[in-house]
Amino acid sequence: MADVPQDILSEIASLERLFTVDTEKLKEITEQFIDELHQGLKGEGNIPMNPTWVMNFPDGEETGSFLALDMGGTNLRVCEITLTDEKGEFDIVQSKYRMPEELKHGTAEELWDYTADCIEQFIEYHHEDERDNLDTIPLGFTFSYPATQEHIDNGVLQRWTKGWAVEGVEGEDVVPQLEKALKERNLPVTVAALINDTTGTLIASAYTDQSMRIGCIFGTGHNGAYLETCGNIPKLKHMNLPDDMHMVINCEYGAFNSKGQHPVLPKTQYDVMIDETSPRPGQQAYEKMTSGLYLGEIFRLAMLDLHDNKKILLADQDLKAFRTPFCLDASFLSFIEEDPFENLSETQDMLNDKYGIKAARPELELLRRLAELIGTRSARLCACGIAAICKMKGFDSCHVGADGSVFNKYPHFKQRNAKALREILDWQKGKKDPVVVSSSEDGSGVGAALIAALTVKRIKAGNKYGIQDVSKFNVTSDSKPDP
Ligand code: BGC
Repeated sequence: MADVPQDILSEIASLERLFTVDTEKLKEITEQFIDELHQGLKGEGNIPMNPTWVMNFPDGEETGSFLALDMGGTNLRVCEITLTDEKGEFDIVQSKYRMPEELKHGTAEELWDYTADCIEQFIEYHHEDERDNLDTIPLGFTFSYPATQEHIDNGVLQRWTKGWAVEGVEGEDVVPQLEKALKERNLPVTVAALINDTTGTLIASAYTDQSMRIGCIFGTGHNGAYLETCGNIPKLKHMNLPDDMHMVINCEYGAFNSKGQHPVLPKTQYDVMIDETSPRPGQQAYEKMTSGLYLGEIFRLAMLDLHDNKKILLADQDLKAFRTPFCLDASFLSFIEEDPFENLSETQDMLNDKYGIKAARPELELLRRLAELIGTRSARLCACGIAAICKMKGFDSCHVGADGSVFNKYPHFKQRNAKALREILDWQKGKKDPVVVSSSEDGSGVGAALIAALTVKRIKAGNKYGIQDVSKFNVTSDSKPDP
C-alpha cells in the first residue's frame, strides 16, 4: 500500500483484528455447529432442522409437466418445467415478476393476491386459449422461509426471515392461503409440494450428479439441506417411520448460535447493531453475519463509525447518502473488491459520481480493505455449516450444490470458502479437495418440479407417507398403499 499514513494503517490493522476469523476459531464454531445440528434433530435449540417429506433423490427418470413458483426475497418467478423422457433432461419456460417492497411488510391477503395474479398472468400468457381446458397442473412452491411441515403439501411458517414481516402468515399454513387465492381466480393449479430453496437446490443438483450430498443457498439469506435417515431424527420417533427411511432435512442453519447457547460467533459492534434494529432481534444470528442482505449494511455501519466517531475517514465530506439503513447492498462491496486498478480509480469515480464523495487514495485503500474483510469473513464463516454437516454425517468426500447471488456473483467468495473448508477439515496440501462446492442447477425451478414429480411417483408406488391430500394429485397408485 503506497503512502498510506500511519493512522490509516493502524485503523486497517484494527479492522483486520475485528473481522478476521482464524482457523482455530473456525474449528471451534464448527464443533458448536455440530452440537446445535444434533439438538435440532431432537427438537431443541436454535436450528430448526425441519423435516421436508422429500424422501428420496431423483433417478433421472422423472417425467411430466409442472409449475414452479419461487418466492425468493427479491423477485417472484413462475416457471413451467417439462421433465422429458430423455434421462435427466428438461424444458423450461419462465417469467419473473418484481416483488414490490411494500408487499414484504403488508398483509397476507395482499401477498397471496399478488402471487396468484402473477400465476394467472403466466398461465394466460403461455396457455392463451387453453386455460379452461387445462388439466389441473401440480405446482412446486419454493417458499424460502422456515416452515414446519407435517406433510410435503403443507407448511406452517415458523417466522419470517430476510427482513420480511407480512402480517397474518407466521404460525399459519401457507398452502391454504395461496390455494384460496388461486381458487378465487379459478386457476387449474394445485400445490403439490412446498419446498425450501436449499432442498430444491439439493434435489436439482442430485438429478445430474450422484455425488451430491448437500444443497446450500448463499444469497439474500443463508442456509443448507442434506439427506438424513429417519432413525437419526429423534423428534420424529413418535411417527414410527422405518429407521432407514430417508428424509431431506432443511436445516435452517441461518439460526445457528442465536441464543441460549455457548456463544461462539465473533460478533462485532456492527453485527450487534444490525440485530438490535432488525424486525426480529435475537434471530438468525449466523445469517446476519454472512448473507447478502447484511453485507452492505455491515460495511455502511463500519464506514459511518470511521467517519463519525473515529474521524479517520472522509472527514470533510458529507455522508448523507449513506445515512439510510440498508441503502448499500452486497453489490457495492463487490464493485469495490473488483476494482482492477491499483489506484482504485473505479471506486473513486463511483463514489464521486453516485454519492458525491471525494475520497483520497489512502481512504480508498481503507474502504477496499474493509470490503475484503467483510466479504472474507462471510465466506469463511459459511464454510462452518458445510463442514459441520460433513463431519456429523461422515462425508469424507462429496459435492455440495450451491446457489444464490453471493455464491454466484461476489468476487473471490468461492475460493475463500474453499480455503476455509480446507483449514477446518485439515485436508492435505497439494491434493484435490474432497468436498467441492459448486454452482448448482436451478433449484427453485427444476428442483421444485422434480420434487412435485417425486411426490406423484411416490403416490403411484403406494407410499403416501407425508402427503396430506392425495386426492388432489389425480393419480392412482400402482401398488397396495401403506397401512
Ligand atoms: C431462510 C431459509 C432460506 C435461506 C436462503 C433464510 O432466511 O430462512 O429458508 O433457505 O434464507 O434463501
